[in-house]
Amino acid sequence: MSGLVNNKVVIVTGAARGIGAGIAADLAEKGAHVVIADLNADAARQTASKISAGGNNAIAVAVDVSSRASVKALIDQTVSRFGRLDVMFNNAGISQTCPFLKVTEEDFDRIMKVNGLGVLIGTQEAAKQMIAQGHGGKIINTASVAGKQGYPLFAHYCASKFAVVAITQAAARALAEHKITVNCFGPGVVKTELWEQLDREFLERGLTEKPEQAINEFSQSILLGRVSLPKDIAGVTTFLASDASDYVTGQTVMVDGGMVL
Ligand code: NAI
Repeated sequence: MSGLVNNKVVIVTGAARGIGAGIAADLAEKGAHVVIADLNADAARQTASKISAGGNNAIAVAVDVSSRASVKALIDQTVSRFGRLDVMFNNAGISQTCPFLKVTEEDFDRIMKVNGLGVLIGTQEAAKQMIAQGHGGKIINTASVAGKQGYPLFAHYCASKFAVVAITQAAARALAEHKITVNCFGPGVVKTELWEQLDREFLERGLTEKPEQAINEFSQSILLGRVSLPKDIAGVTTFLASDASDYVTGQTVMVDGGMVL
């Protein structure tokens, strides 16, 4: 698959760690020029220098995906460094587990602002750049099994991921005439620091049901019998970033081991 993304200019948001870092490292390995875009500027720099140390092309840019000005600056810096933008991965996201009856307005707004609004802004601003360039492009948004099904400990997170799927479908319709495809990929349970963070938050809030319990419950419904690692999604993300997916738009490609059918 190495030739598929050679020389593509790719932004991956939330790429300082976890799934985004995995996607970025894999695409860079396959010859793409990658922009590690993250709220955590130090971690983004570390990830970019690790990728560059392997002889691949990566730079770090600090961004808050929920701020339009910040996303515009990210795209401007990408274009001034690499001359264009071919692929935008709107991957940054936050999560929180909370029993359904305890989800507050603040919890809901906080998650929607990053996962929902962040994907809307990232899709719009990338599309404007790609339209100006005049030869199409690819926008890929990170959805989730939680964008296909409601889970009782994740009502607000699910709402935000359903929003990602909805924005993707709307954008696919709006941008097709510009040869811009818009798709999601939908991970299931991926062992990243996100889950460790959920564990810590749960302890702080003194809640009894723990994310590990949620993982165990989820795991029982994974047909392939195991949770995944960032490397398990590389095949699909390479495909979606490459010309091989030129006739695919508006889709959510699930990479969940058969968790949601
Ligand atoms: P993670 O928590 O390990 O990494 C997320 C990254 O996003 C962090 O580096 C963080 O600094 C960054 N970030 C957070 N808010 C940001 C903002 N406002 N602007 C820019 N960057 C920001 O999470 P993970 O597991 O790698 O998840 C990545 C994406 O995959 C998220 O959208 C998540 O919802 C989704 N996902 C994760 C699954 C999992 O089991 N880990 C399953 C399904 C979907």
